[in-house]
Amino acid sequence: MKKVGVALLGLGTVGGGTYRILKSMHDDIMASDGVDIEIRRIIERDVAKAEALGVDPALLSTDINDVISDPEIKIVAEFFGGIEPARSFLIASLKAGKSIVTANKEMFSKCMEDLKAAAIEGNAGLYFEASCVGGVPVIRALTESMQGNRIDSIMGIVNGTTNYILTKMADEGLEYADVLKEAQRLGYAEANPSADVDGFDSMYKLSILSTLCFRKHVPLDKIYREGISKISKTDIEYGKRFGYTLKLLAIGKLTHGKIEARVHPAFILNSNPLASVKGSFNAVLIHGNNVDDVMLYGRGAGDLPTGSAIVSDIVYAAVQDKHKLFNYSSDVSDEDFADDFTSEYYVRMTVKDKAGVLAKIAAAFGKYGVSINSVQQQAEDGKASIIFMIHRTSEAALKKAATETESLNDVISVDTIIRVI
Ligand code: NDP
Ligand code: HSE
Repeated sequence: MKKVGVALLGLGTVGGGTYRILKSMHDDIMASDGVDIEIRRIIERDVAKAEALGVDPALLSTDINDVISDPEIKIVAEFFGGIEPARSFLIASLKAGKSIVTANKEMFSKCMEDLKAAAIEGNAGLYFEASCVGGVPVIRALTESMQGNRIDSIMGIVNGTTNYILTKMADEGLEYADVLKEAQRLGYAEANPSADVDGFDSMYKLSILSTLCFRKHVPLDKIYREGISKISKTDIEYGKRFGYTLKLLAIGKLTHGKIEARVHPAFILNSNPLASVKGSFNAVLIHGNNVDDVMLYGRGAGDLPTGSAIVSDIVYAAVQDKHKLFNYSSDVSDEDFADDFTSEYYVRMTVKDKAGVLAKIAAAFGKYGVSINSVQQQAEDGKASIIFMIHRTSEAALKKAATETESLNDVISVDTIIRVI
């Protein structure tokens, strides 16, 4: 039986889940894949975490050299999070000929070029299934199962924390801050939850996913990003009245040869399959020219779902005779990316409740070619809350129209702009 030594870097949420699966599934993996996965070293500074999992103290270390110098360790799986020391440890491991498995999308999206170079140098494998969409096997689907296609779009809910928050706000009327605390307790949220709620985590994942889809490096600075921190229960409730569900979406599209990549909250029709994706579940909808639509769905965060993806990569790496690296072009310029996009919009504003205000707003919109589809107004105490549903227009035009509208004397505030898919 082939025996493969593994090192685990970190024993937090993902590391803990991975450890438990490697232990509980050890014999099943031997039987199904013919490989004996042996945990030979764990790098973790918090001994209490190791004790809670019943880890043999002899496996623990805080020194990466204990991993690099062990020739029996063939695979290094990382779940520290953050850029350093994760990046340096993984590059050293790759150069030493050890394959790596990582859940760290921030580091992977920022350092994929360096990691790939080190993997080529060390003739080692680079596996990152757990970096995107938790336990959902989207990376393997893109790299191993869709080669017969040119992929022209990917759209999905790729962050468990924000989907959990939006679901609880919509279904149970809970407040944002309370639900965020619950998502942290359940191990879904990043160490700094701003990474989730401000859309950074989705942006990192979209960079990785769209690079795989379009075979061109999609760097973070080419992705439009907006999070959910300004979303209020009011907007969620208004959306419901129009038949919409609010989701944080990651969207990558190839239109006329240009890549459009964006992360933002969006209203989707309740009949859209993504509307029924709730809680920490995620889903991605991929469109290929030959297969048409492919939808993948499952838990996007948490210890065991993410550990499942890590263990899958460990086993996959362990049974390869030769590691295949994914191909994409690094030679990209501004010309490869769209600088604007179009959408329909929901715009909520607060205005003075007096004659002629609507006409002034319509005129400001009209100046930029922004056309109103419908208007709803609710007036109280001399103020009115107005919801405009806007026909498809360019983002740039909508933003100019909103800025001009906000400068009108009778407009108190433009409160929310949400794209409608
Ligand atoms: P945790 O904070 O729960 O775990 C990280 C662990 O690594 C902690 O125990 C931490 O110890 C330890 N650690 C960090 N740096 C070092 C170091 N230099 N030396 C020794 N130990 C170290 O994070 P998660 O498990 O939630 O996330 C880990 C990674 O996985 C992140 O990149 C995250 O984005 C990604 N991920 C997380 C998912 C989830 O559902 N939570 C899902 C998919 C990916 P200490 O506490 O002492 O700092
Ligand atoms: N914080 C991330 C999320 C973890 O909520 O989706 C999974 O990548």
